[in-house]
Amino acid sequence: MTQKQRVLTGITTTGTPHLGNYVGAIRPAIEASRNPDMEAFYFLADYHALIKCHEPARVAASRMEVAATWLALGLDTDNAVFYRQSDIPEIPELTWILSCVAAKGLLNRAHAYKAAVQVNEEEKAKDPDKGITMGLFSYPVLMAADILMFNAHKVPVGRDQVQHIEMARDIGGRFNHLFGQTFVLPEAIVDEKTAVLSGIDGRKMSKSYDNTIPLFLPEKKLRKTIMKIKTNSLEPSEPKDPATCTLFEIYNAFATQDDVRSVRERYAEGIGWGDMKILLFDYLNAILEEPRERYAELMADPAKVEKILLEGAEKARSIAGPFLAEIRKKTGLLPFS
Ligand code: TRP
Repeated sequence: MTQKQRVLTGITTTGTPHLGNYVGAIRPAIEASRNPDMEAFYFLADYHALIKCHEPARVAASRMEVAATWLALGLDTDNAVFYRQSDIPEIPELTWILSCVAAKGLLNRAHAYKAAVQVNEEEKAKDPDKGITMGLFSYPVLMAADILMFNAHKVPVGRDQVQHIEMARDIGGRFNHLFGQTFVLPEAIVDEKTAVLSGIDGRKMSKSYDNTIPLFLPEKKLRKTIMKIKTNSLEPSEPKDPATCTLFEIYNAFATQDDVRSVRERYAEGIGWGDMKILLFDYLNAILEEPRERYAELMADPAKVEKILLEGAEKARSIAGPFLAEIRKKTGLLPFS
C-alpha cells in the first residue's frame, strides 16, 4: 500500500481570523482536507505565537478564536488531524534534536532574523542582535520540527514562508545524511490562484496594518466595517473599473461566477459606491450567517473545543510518539537493555 500524501500547515495564534485568512488559507485547507487521497494535519502554532507576542490574554484569546473559526467553517476532524502544537511534547523534543544538526549559518540567513538585525543596524544599536530572542532565531527549527514530525509531503503557505520550508528540507536532509533515511523532505505549496485580499485601507489585509475585516464580526459591525472600505471618488453613474477596486476584489473572492459577471456589468453601468457596499455586505452576510452562529456556539462552549483539540492531539501523538522513539534511537539515545 502506498502511503497517502500528507498535507500539513500551522496557524500562528496571535490574531483574530479575518476575511483574508479565510480566502487565502482556511478555505483551501478545508477543501484539501476533503480530498480522500490526502491526509491533512492542521494545528495551532501556539509555541510560534510566543515568539511574537508576550501578551498572555491575546495568545489565549487567539487560540480559542482560531480553533472555533476552523471548526465553525466546516473543518471535519474525522478528515483532518486538528491539534495545538503545545499539546505535542514530541515537537519541542524534536526541535532540540534538529537544532543539533541545523547549521547556525543557515539560520543566520532567515529573512525574519535578518530583518530584525537590519532594523538594529539602521538604528545604530551597539549590538546588532539587540532585543532578538533565541525563539526568533530558532523559529525555522521549530517549524521544521512541526513539519518533519509528521513526514508531511506538502505544506501550503504564504510566499513569506517559503524560505522556512526550504530550511526544513535542508535540516531534514542533513539529519537523513548523518543518521540514515528518516524524514520525508517537504515541499512548499504556494497557490498563485488563491486570492490575496486588500484591507479597508486598500493595502494587503493584514493584522499588522490594522486594516482587517474579522470573519465573525457581529452583523452590524460587519456592515459598518464594509462601509469604511476605501474607494476612489467617482460619482454614481460614472463607469467604474473592477480591477482596481477592493469592494470588487472581496466580492469576487466569495461570489459565484454568475454573480461576479452581473456585478461587473453594474460597474460598467456606474453603480454607486454606497450601493456596492450594501450589495457586498448583503452577499457576505448571507454566506457568513450560519458559520457565525456556529462560531458563537463554540465560543460559548470552550469545553467542547478543548475536547476536540485533545482528541486531535491524541491522534497526532500516536504518530509522533513512536516516530520520535525511532529518531532518538538513530542518534544514539536508546535504552541500555
Ligand atoms: N510560521 C507559519 C506562519 O506564520 C506558521 C507555522 C508554524 C507553520 N509551523 C508551521 C506553517 C508548519 C506551515 C508548517 O504562517
